[in-house]
Amino acid sequence: MILIKTTKKIAKFIMMKTIYSGIGEVGKKVYIGRNTEFRNRKNIYLGDRVSIGEYCVLSANKEKQSLKIGSDTAIHAFCMVRAKAGFIHIGNECSLNPYSIIYGGQGGVKIGNYVRIATHTVIVAAQHLFQRLDVPICYQGGESKGIIIEDDVWIGANCTILDGVKIGKGSIIAAGAVVTKDVMPYSIMTGVPAKLIKIRQTDKELSTSIKARQ
Ligand SMILES: CC(C)(COP(=O)(O)OP(=O)(O)OC[C@H]1O[C@@H](n2cnc3c(N)ncnc32)[C@H](O)[C@@H]1OP(=O)(O)O)[C@@H](O)C(=O)NCCC(=O)NCCS
Repeated sequence: MILIKTTKKIAKFIMMKTIYSGIGEVGKKVYIGRNTEFRNRKNIYLGDRVSIGEYCVLSANKEKQSLKIGSDTAIHAFCMVRAKAGFIHIGNECSLNPYSIIYGGQGGVKIGNYVRIATHTVIVAAQHLFQRLDVPICYQGGESKGIIIEDDVWIGANCTILDGVKIGKGSIIAAGAVVTKDVMPYSIMTGVPAKLIKIRQTDKELSTSIKARQ
């Protein structure tokens, strides 16, 4: 019995070592699910206790640490995180839920700590140029300003975050929203294009602001 357990442990250890091999930096107790693919793996950095689900694609580029995932962050199954021409840096204790996509253009994507990104969200830091009518859009090149998502942001299911946007600390992006402009800290945004419906306030702040209005 002990022999079987030990053999299983050794087999798992060897399997994980094979999966990790060549990745730039791998922290302690990292989990990687079946059929997950790493591209330009030497430029990928994974912090401690990072968990990557099944069937994900994580792609860095030729730049060192062009794809960084902080400690205690979970990338769930079927996600795509591709640095493309820029970088993607995700902080600590974040989660990216199934079928979500993050693409970094030259401007990159920077995500802080404690950020929750629900299923089917698309974050793409790039756009096609389309000024000319005589050239197909796909041949006109692109631009990328970059996307910043600060700490403690909650992005609901099915959201789209467009290039050039900064989402302030503590904000909530409601399910289905398309964020086209910067979002102030502690905002609650809904709709297409996303509009401010509320500012998050503590009960104390709320009663102070109600008193001030009376
Ligand atoms: C935004 C959200 C957090 C609710 O916040 P809230 O401050 O409690 O908002 P309320 O429920 O009081 O709704 C305020 C208004 O926004 C509207 N609203 C709420 N969620 C909305 C959404 N996703 N899209 C469009 N409008 C929405 C409400 O209909 C309401 O409109 P009204 O004032 O005209 O009646 C919630 O609706 C939401 O979208 N959560 C995300 C859920 C999700 O994606 N979960 C995935 C797993 S984590």
